[in-house]
Formats: sequence, C-alpha cells, structure tokens
Amino acid sequence: MFKVIRRGTQLLGLATVIALLTLAFGCYPNDPQSTFEALGPVAESQLILFWVILGAGAIVFVAVEGAIIYTIIKYRRRRGDGIPHQTEGNHTLEFAWTVGPTILLVAVAVPTVITIFDNQVTPDPDALTVEVIGHQWWFEFRYPHPDDPEKEIIFANDLHIPINEVVNVNLDSVDVIHSFWIPKIAGKVDMVPGNDNTMWIQADRTGLYYGQCAEFCGVQHAKMRFKVIAQTRPEFDAWLRAQAEPAIESQDPLVAEGRKLFSSAGCSGCHATDAVTTKGTPGREGPNLTHVASRTNLAGGVFDNLDENGTVNDSYLQRNLRNWIEDPEGWKTGNLMATRGQPYNDDDGNYTTDILSEADLSALVAYVSSLK
Ligand code: CUA
Repeated sequence: MFKVIRRGTQLLGLATVIALLTLAFGCYPNDPQSTFEALGPVAESQLILFWVILGAGAIVFVAVEGAIIYTIIKYRRRRGDGIPHQTEGNHTLEFAWTVGPTILLVAVAVPTVITIFDNQVTPDPDALTVEVIGHQWWFEFRYPHPDDPEKEIIFANDLHIPINEVVNVNLDSVDVIHSFWIPKIAGKVDMVPGNDNTMWIQADRTGLYYGQCAEFCGVQHAKMRFKVIAQTRPEFDAWLRAQAEPAIESQDPLVAEGRKLFSSAGCSGCHATDAVTTKGTPGREGPNLTHVASRTNLAGGVFDNLDENGTVNDSYLQRNLRNWIEDPEGWKTGNLMATRGQPYNDDDGNYTTDILSEADLSALVAYVSSLK
C-alpha cells in the first residue's frame, strides 16, 4: 500500500519537473519568435500588458480555486450529518463579488486601452514610412526614394529599418487577409486588401529579427516569412541608396545568356528588375528581383541564404536559386510561379519541370545571382 503511494508521489514529482522544464524551454527568451524578449518600445509595452493581465488572472485563479478547496474540505459531509442549514441571499457576499471583479476589470482595462492607443497612433508621423504589401505568400516592402519624393523603391522578403527611430508601417494586401508580425518588435496587425491599416515599430538594437504572417492565408501560410534587418542610421541610408541604383551589370557570357532567357522564358512578365517606381504603381505579381542576390532569404523564407557568420553566402544563394527555379512546386506547393509561370506549365496547363533545360537553369541561376 505504502509502496504504491510512494511510487505515485515519485511519478507526480517527475511529471511536475518535466512540465516545468517544457514550460521553461517554451518561453526561452532567445527563440527567434519569442515575445518574451521584447526589443522595441511597442513589444515592451505589450509585454508589460501581458504580465499585468496574467497577474490579474493569477489573482482570480488563486482566490477562486482557494475558496473552492477551502469550502469542499471544511464543509465536506461527515457521518451523521443531516440537511445543512438553508440560506437564501447574502447581501454582503453579493456586493463583494460584484465590486471585486469590477475593480479588477477596471485595473486591467485602463492599461489595456492606454497601450492600444499608444501603439495605434504613431509618436512621429514624419518618420520613415514603409509600405508593406502582402502577397500569397511573401512580403513586398516599399521605401520612399531618398532623392525623389514621387518615387519609391521596391524590395521583398527583407525589411531594413534604422534602429532607435520610429518607423511607420502602412499595411495592404493584393489578395487575401494577411497579418504583419515581428514578435520581438511589435504585435500583429492585419493586412486587409483595400484597407489602410497602419502601425509603428521601433527596434532597440541592430541585428536580425524574424517576421511571420500571422493570419491563415492559404496552404503556404507557414512559408510566408520575412526577416527584419535593423541597422544604424548611416548603414540604413547607405543600403537604401544602393537599392535606388540598378544592379551592377556583369559581363559574364553565362549571365548575359541568362538575362536574355529571363525575358524570353517569361520570367520578366512577373518579376521586375528595376527597383525604382512611381509611388503607388501596382507591382508585378512576383517579387521585384533588382537586388535579389543581396537578400537573406528567398521565396518567402523557404530558403535561407545566410551562413554561420550571418552574411549572404554566394554558394548558398546559388544552390537555393537552383533548387527554387528547378522545381518551385516541389518547394512551395501552390505558389503562383509554379501554378502560372510560363516555364512551368505545358500546353495543357499542367505543371512540368521539363521546359527549362539544365543549361537554361545554369544561365538563369547565373543571371539572378548576379543581381546584387
Ligand atoms: Cu499570409 Cu498567412
């Protein structure tokens, strides 16, 4: 009998340790998408609010469960007990359980409302404003041109921002509802077609942050990711200026062949190779590829081009491009390039990887990876 009880106690102890460890690892602050490591004022205010609400919830939990446990032990039925004393109504108790929760709800509501308004209204309307446009399944980013207010610069999959500055974000979508989320910098805001949702973000320190679409938007919702590159102001300015320039033209014959093929095979129908456009011009269906070879990731986060030093590695980039151009459907089922792209659809409209030859692939990879 005692053995069984001891065994039970041991098992319970073990289960508790495992549960606590699981919880601890689940909340490990260095995880790339953990909201427990807030690295900007928006995320920080939201994290504080989370703790306030969790604290209020914990007070309610302990009080209610404690009262229940106290009551069932103290007033449990004992041998020989008759019908207990019957009561109807208790004004003091009723007053207490109405006023108590009211105070608690107000205590939660005030910081909630303050945080919502603080996060909704930008503290600096004149700060850098980035247009973020959702596509199934990748993110397009548009920056104001550094010299020409009529123009903007299109980029994709990597969002560059200067640190310690407010960055205003205008959110839109060309197809379905997506949601913009950088867990360590700010909570999510929906990207609704034709609706002008806005938010503001700010990063406290330089580095790489992970972003993710947070609204189910089709089969590849999970592969709709982006990276945020937070830089110092001078680094950011230099980067933006470089994006305003066309890619350096390589004289390599294979690159020249790839460039020709890029038009003749139909790639250029969906992918622009000029990053500068008049403000508000709708982009093409696929990501702008002007400086694609300088991006940390491809195809909405399917491929990572970074090596262990955190820099874009040419051989990774070329391998990733080859994999992607060879069989886009295999890597990201249902994506537009596979379902509509001229090089991937036979005369009956069926997906095929037979149209591009090995030589075509090499030429296209050479050209696209030259776009720095
Ligand atoms: Cu876009 Cu989920």
